[in-house]
Amino acid sequence: MSAVASRREVEVCLGQAGLKLGTLVYTRQGQRQNSAFAYEQTWLRDAEHFNVSADLKLDPGYQFRRAPSPHDSVFHGAIADTAPDAWGRRVIARDHAKRRREDPSLSALTEMDYLLAVDDFSRIGALRLRDDEHRYHRTAEEGRRSTPALIELERIYHASRAVERGQETADDLRYLRGKGTSLGGMRPKCTILDEDGTLAIGKFPSVQDARSVTRGEVLALQLAQRAGIDAAPARIVQLDDVPIAVITRFDRDAGHARIPYQSAASVLQASRDEDRSYTEIADALRSIGYDPIPDIRQLWRRLVFNLLITNVDDHLQNLGFLHTAHGQWRLAPAFDVNPFPDKERESKTWLSEDEGPITDIAMLLARCSDFALDQQQALAVLAEVHAAVSDWRTLARSPAVGLRASELDDFAPAFEHDQMEAAGRSLG
Ligand SMILES: Nc1ncnc2c1ncn2[C@@H]1O[C@H](COP(=O)(O)OP(=O)(O)OP(=O)(O)O)[C@@H](O)[C@H]1O
Ligand SMILES: [Mg+2]
Repeated sequence: MSAVASRREVEVCLGQAGLKLGTLVYTRQGQRQNSAFAYEQTWLRDAEHFNVSADLKLDPGYQFRRAPSPHDSVFHGAIADTAPDAWGRRVIARDHAKRRREDPSLSALTEMDYLLAVDDFSRIGALRLRDDEHRYHRTAEEGRRSTPALIELERIYHASRAVERGQETADDLRYLRGKGTSLGGMRPKCTILDEDGTLAIGKFPSVQDARSVTRGEVLALQLAQRAGIDAAPARIVQLDDVPIAVITRFDRDAGHARIPYQSAASVLQASRDEDRSYTEIADALRSIGYDPIPDIRQLWRRLVFNLLITNVDDHLQNLGFLHTAHGQWRLAPAFDVNPFPDKERESKTWLSEDEGPITDIAMLLARCSDFALDQQQALAVLAEVHAAVSDWRTLARSPAVGLRASELDDFAPAFEHDQMEAAGRSLG
């Protein structure tokens, strides 16, 4: 038998105090890799204990994990939720490749390296990773701030843009290293400290964009609020002619404390290769929800909104849960909500196992009772969402969003379509 090629152990801690929850071990042998997590006895006995991830039961001993498909993480759900996705991995990999050219003795990156490359200050949720010398992964180099202030957006944007184009310098990469560029998601982004010191995400235009995606996202998030949805506060910060979407982080409280987070994918223990449904999420809320009925109704409201603005990128990493206390969770504010004018109006996450993807208002109305709404209540929600979406042009043209009249045509098919008409007809 060949020896284990790579094995790395880290402590998993919780919150600002860094309470040790357990131990995470990653092993890799050739192409085979797995991870294992064990809770600390002290955590299992703690009066405040809860399972930080739906797939990590509050039991003693190691719990093993192998990725169920090549598209899934080798780590348990809530740990994987803190790992970088396409964009963050790209920044980390480019940086590593450049350093490896200078020092060929550096070994190839493992999944654990990616997980540990996320800066501790801005890691999503409340989980933190620490080595046996009590150093958090990763912490900024001596004398450097890990999370830049809003004023540095321009520098980050230009460095990120260079990475997208494959033209970055070693200096760009050194600058970006640990700058919260390692967040999840596909699109170029970073973490920043907003003017009032709160943690925020900056999302940049991408070189591949055919329209103003950042203004579109701010429009969608602000419109969501008008439609009665609890959505992450978002605004445009303009750098010369570049609109950056600045979105407040919801996984920190007013005192900057870290709030435990799990994506819907983690809560459902879903593989990226599976089709899962909103009725399962409603059921999950019924069992682990802090205040299930308002959250389940809120979920239905979001489904209506997503359909009416053609937000069809509703995969299970784009919906989240925040921990309240004692293993009870509430829906996180809506985030990553975008109009997709060029896409077919079909949700990624299914309505239910039987019905498949959401494609029309009639199927949402037919299923409202699964979301704790009778027909009359559902129509009242639909009326509010429909009214907000009908007025999208006013908000789009407002200084807060700043779309030009000529740009509205790019977005119109997302907001003006047969399902808006069908919704209008249902309302009589
Ligand atoms: N306001 C927020 N507060 C806390 N965490 C957030 C917030 N917005 C996003 N996140 C986290 O950051 C991740 C990436 O953000 P987001 O989904 O907006 O990026 P994206 O690149 O557009 O994603 P996608 O790959 O789905 O297009 C999310 O999956 C979520 O874990
Ligand atoms: Mg996303």
